[in-house]
Amino acid sequence: MKRIFVVGATSAIAQAAVRRFAARGDRLFLLARNEAKLEAVVQDARARGAEVHSAVADLNAFDLHASLIEDAAQALGGLDVVLIAHGTLSDQKACEESYSDAEQELRTNFLSVVSLLTPLANRLEAQKGGTIAVISSVAGDRGRGSNYLYGTAKGALSIFLQGLRNRLHPAGVRVITIKPGFVDTPMTLEVKKNALFAAPDTVGRGIVRAIDGGREVVYLPAFWRLIMLAVRAVPEPLFKRLKL
Ligand SMILES: NC(=O)c1ccc[n+]([C@@H]2O[C@H](COP(=O)([O-])OP(=O)(O)OC[C@H]3O[C@@H](n4cnc5c(N)ncnc54)[C@H](OP(=O)(O)O)[C@@H]3O)[C@@H](O)[C@H]2O)c1
Repeated sequence: MKRIFVVGATSAIAQAAVRRFAARGDRLFLLARNEAKLEAVVQDARARGAEVHSAVADLNAFDLHASLIEDAAQALGGLDVVLIAHGTLSDQKACEESYSDAEQELRTNFLSVVSLLTPLANRLEAQKGGTIAVISSVAGDRGRGSNYLYGTAKGALSIFLQGLRNRLHPAGVRVITIKPGFVDTPMTLEVKKNALFAAPDTVGRGIVRAIDGGREVVYLPAFWRLIMLAVRAVPEPLFKRLKL
């Protein structure tokens, strides 16, 4: 039994992981913004047999983060695993026109995670163990004209997690960077679907496997590692001419 704190628990990908945690008897603290959606996820996890605690908060209220983490640790009797899943797919055009839109996207997709991970990392470092898993994105592997605001936030997040992994390794704390490709969730409702889209359940299963196993940078599905290897290998003089 693991004591698992899930941030952004109503995300379709997080829900797929939560269903698996619940079915095997992990103890859960689920945090999300939308009370009605969260209640449905809590009820589903309880029906699968899990002990479930929950809290509602907008994660852009950074001043609440420390007390939410304290509440989760108290309710669960400690923390073994933290999964951070919240995010928004930025409106690239709006971010090009308005810095305040761009800043808002960077706050949600990058800075809110730094704010959460500052006290969380210190807690796990002090207890000398635990696992931090965070959903970043393949979009952070290379900047593209069509979504570089979101890509910037996720790229910065991936670098932050890399540094955190390096810092926390001596304390026995694992830091897992999850990099999904396209996933068919409410976030991509407006995006035209193609054969590369994965189901949230496939990605949720991969996240649980990564938490249970030893991998630290996980592309989901795994073929995205090769796609991104190729994308990163394109020379910049050519890449800048591509419509991506
Ligand atoms: N779908 C993809 O193709 C894809 C690809 C790569 C990475 N990802 C990443 O995967 C993660 C999960 O996304 P998803 O695909 O599962 O999409 P989703 O179902 O739309 O989930 C996004 C979640 O983030 C929550 N959220 C957004 N802003 C928040 C805030 N300020 N405070 C609290 N919660 C907030 C949303 O809450 P509400 O329900 O209240 O809006 C929702 O639960 C995200 O980090 C996303 O960037 C997704």
